[in-house]
Amino acid sequence: MHPTVIIKQLSEEERRFLSHLVKNGGPEPGEYKEFTAIVNNLEDEELEFFREVIRDSLNVNTLIGHGYVKPFGYPGDFSIIHNIYRVYVNPDQKYSNWDRFFQDQEGAHAVRNRKDYFLKRCAEIDAFDHREKRVLILGSGPATDVNDYLRSHPESKIHFDLVDFDQNAIDFAKSQNEDFSNSIDYFKINVLRFKPYQWYDLIWSAGLFDYFKDKHFVYMINKYYKYLNEGGEFIIGNFSNSNPTRRLMEVLSDWYLNHRSKYDLVRMALEAEAREENIDVEMEELGVNLFLRIKTA
Ligand SMILES: C[S@@+](CC[C@H](N)C(=O)[O-])C[C@H]1O[C@@H](n2cnc3c(N)ncnc32)[C@H](O)[C@@H]1O
Repeated sequence: MHPTVIIKQLSEEERRFLSHLVKNGGPEPGEYKEFTAIVNNLEDEELEFFREVIRDSLNVNTLIGHGYVKPFGYPGDFSIIHNIYRVYVNPDQKYSNWDRFFQDQEGAHAVRNRKDYFLKRCAEIDAFDHREKRVLILGSGPATDVNDYLRSHPESKIHFDLVDFDQNAIDFAKSQNEDFSNSIDYFKINVLRFKPYQWYDLIWSAGLFDYFKDKHFVYMINKYYKYLNEGGEFIIGNFSNSNPTRRLMEVLSDWYLNHRSKYDLVRMALEAEAREENIDVEMEELGVNLFLRIKTA
């Protein structure tokens, strides 16, 4: 579409407001509603022009810009996920309001909540009996979740196998988990190709299946389900289609996920031939991140 047509679709007032935000390092809390309303009402044809107006903020100095630039070549890399966990805000005032805004979004809260959910599941596994336990993580990213768990449970009997296809993610996870090298093995490989050589009490994956089409989602359940110990569980996190941050992620960071409903998750588990009585769907407290739980029969 011709740019002059696009320009007409953002009003003069909206453009002035957006330019003011860029000068101010992002929206102040009192401006969140107005900014979100503009973003949520943008049509796809307007995105290019909109991004042009906020271009000075769309660089790696902001979390939204990191999402947009994708310095590691794909959305949702280990670095942005780690920064969400540590609620990082760039101290430079040219950018800090953007980061505060980003960290205030329900999507960011849901990512932090899913880590808490994972920590609870690990604690349950550890408490079950005195056996050594095995947890496999698919798309392990920064492994900040594992770090939090092992720091807070120095007596843990869990051994973690971490699979990620990005060497940068593996390097980062290794360096922050140096103290726990005896409890962690790393595998740099695509999860579609990884061949487990043992059985697990928990297979966990969050922030990965949202990128898979349904057919790969089903394939992955089929592939990994057979590597569960008796009493073991496969838990898959997926953003819910009620995620209020969805359009913000798409517009500001060109970050697209396959959002799914509880019914979508159950349907795919059934398609992968899991038994209905072994399937459950839970959610973190905001209902933005769903967890498909599939138990062994
Ligand atoms: C959004 S991060 C989630 C990290 C971690 N699970 C968490 O929740 O903190 C997704 C990670 O999956 C990895 N990943 C994406 N597709 C993958 C694939 N097909 N095989 C292996 N790793 C993959 C990326 O490199 C990235 O580190």
